[in-house]
Amino acid sequence: MQLISKIYLMNSFYKKLELGWPGKDLEIKPEPRVLIEDPEKSYGEANTGNMLIHADNLLALKALEQNFSGKIKCIYIDPPYNTGNAFEHYDDGLEHSMWLNLMKPRLELLYKLLANDGSIWISIDDDESHYLKVLCDEVFGRRNFIANVLWQKRTSPDNRLRLGPAHDHILVYGRIPLIHKNFNQLKISTTRKNDFKNPDNDPRGPWASTDCTAQAGHGTSNQFYSLTTPAGRVINLPDNLCWRFTRERMDEEITAGRIWFGKDGKGVPRKKTYLSEIQGQNSWTWWENSEVGHNQEAKKEIIALFGGNNTFDTPKPERLIQRIIQLASNEGDIVLDSFLGSGTTAAVAHKMGRKWIGIELGEHCNTHCLPRLKMVCDGTDQGGISKAQEWKGGGGFKFYGLAPSLLNKDKYNQWVINPNYNVQLLAAAMARHEGFTYCPSETEVWKQGFATEHHYIFTTTNTITPDVVEQILSEMKPEESLLICCVAFKVECDEISTRIEIRKIPDVILGKCEFGNEDYCTETNIINMPVDPDQPAFVPSYVSPEIKPSPAKIKKEDPTQSKLLF
Ligand SMILES: C[S@@+](CC[C@H](N)C(=O)[O-])C[C@H]1O[C@@H](n2cnc3c(N)ncnc32)[C@H](O)[C@@H]1O
Repeated sequence: MQLISKIYLMNSFYKKLELGWPGKDLEIKPEPRVLIEDPEKSYGEANTGNMLIHADNLLALKALEQNFSGKIKCIYIDPPYNTGNAFEHYDDGLEHSMWLNLMKPRLELLYKLLANDGSIWISIDDDESHYLKVLCDEVFGRRNFIANVLWQKRTSPDNRLRLGPAHDHILVYGRIPLIHKNFNQLKISTTRKNDFKNPDNDPRGPWASTDCTAQAGHGTSNQFYSLTTPAGRVINLPDNLCWRFTRERMDEEITAGRIWFGKDGKGVPRKKTYLSEIQGQNSWTWWENSEVGHNQEAKKEIIALFGGNNTFDTPKPERLIQRIIQLASNEGDIVLDSFLGSGTTAAVAHKMGRKWIGIELGEHCNTHCLPRLKMVCDGTDQGGISKAQEWKGGGGFKFYGLAPSLLNKDKYNQWVINPNYNVQLLAAAMARHEGFTYCPSETEVWKQGFATEHHYIFTTTNTITPDVVEQILSEMKPEESLLICCVAFKVECDEISTRIEIRKIPDVILGKCEFGNEDYCTETNIINMPVDPDQPAFVPSYVSPEIKPSPAKIKKEDPTQSKLLF
């Protein structure tokens, strides 16, 4: 095959292998909002770290970025597959480029949240799987691709189709290559346990045997020898094979009774592995419905939880999520799902002693996720994996909404601070925008947040005057410095000290992100699509106002009560 010359390729428009689509190059800059807890909906034990967030996941992931970057051990997402269907609780039909435009910025934020030793698992079917794979190669890095698990989602073929789908894909990526080497093993399955027998009443109990030969290419000289079995048969291996063990090691294993030569002692030796000595079993990329459940099983779980009239169309079975969380995390790790649906991932993570963050846009966050997770905490949800996990209840979670946009336009079309913001929320939001951790000091009012040990932020709606700056300066330690964000200040304030910098709101944050944008979901939000003559005309059905949650209501709170965490 004649290779295309490097010189020739230099003239190519494409400089690298990539998937291109209309809108790909248009940068989206979501606003880093503040998450607001709704204590009426929070449930159970207070400080478990578990978070149920009712919001568009792009804004919610952005809101989590500051405190959770590099902290999430296992991410599982089950985004709308773009099947073209309109389900009860969400629409699932977008023009393909639109779907990629929705996924890309969300995957990029998920990548930031992923821990170095973390992994992300993405359910998808053939409608978008192959495009998603290429997009994920770009976002996570092709070398960090781990596997494409195939999940047998049905128990029998779809009689309406001559060649119907039997599986879904689960794309798995790490943040660094070969992360799967650290994956946990699975509990030994009953099928595997049945492989262990004890034909020779070995006192160490049931065992299974494995081949004692290896490819000659990997062998060292003392792995090539003839071997005599207990029954006196001499075995010389063919040239392409050698023994797995050196002569000395083989003799040790034989003496210890760990080598099986068959009932008659003439067999080719096989190494015994004892059931009592193995911790678990490795997984592979074919996941059978008998092991991890199927769509029908998931539907039954939902009906058991919510009754037949209040179901959810596209749940995943708890056993499937259990396997993912089992492989990719340990107790206490954080598991995140930003397309939570009926709440399966959070419920399973809770029952498995993981911390969890679940994000759902639709009203079913209130009608399904919230009641389900309350039942998990109460121990009344005994379906799904509860019995297998011996789950009896416990724990708790906090319920969050998003603060509205910090800025909106006034009647003169000028950006102004959203009148819904009280001083506390404004301070928390400005700290977030400027990269400070919001943590108001109880003693110094000007220490509302810190970026480093000695660098603070103070946000106020008052006009800053030289007296105020002098007053604060007199309270500051020599190593301390301060950023003041205010709506107005006297110019001479800026010359008082190099350790105090003053910035005006909203100028200081304008242009850093998109304000006033509540909706990163519906088509209108992205671009007007150039018509692709090859594509059949597409009529999106995804603009249904009742799906969009309204921004969380800001209660005029007692400023001392710090309900704001993020
Ligand atoms: C396939 S379902 C997930 C089902 C889930 N795995 C379960 O077991 O119930 C996809 C979910 O993503 C939600 N969703 C779609 N776009 C979203 C967005 N921008 N932010 C948050 N959730 C979104 C939909 O409302 C829907 O509930």
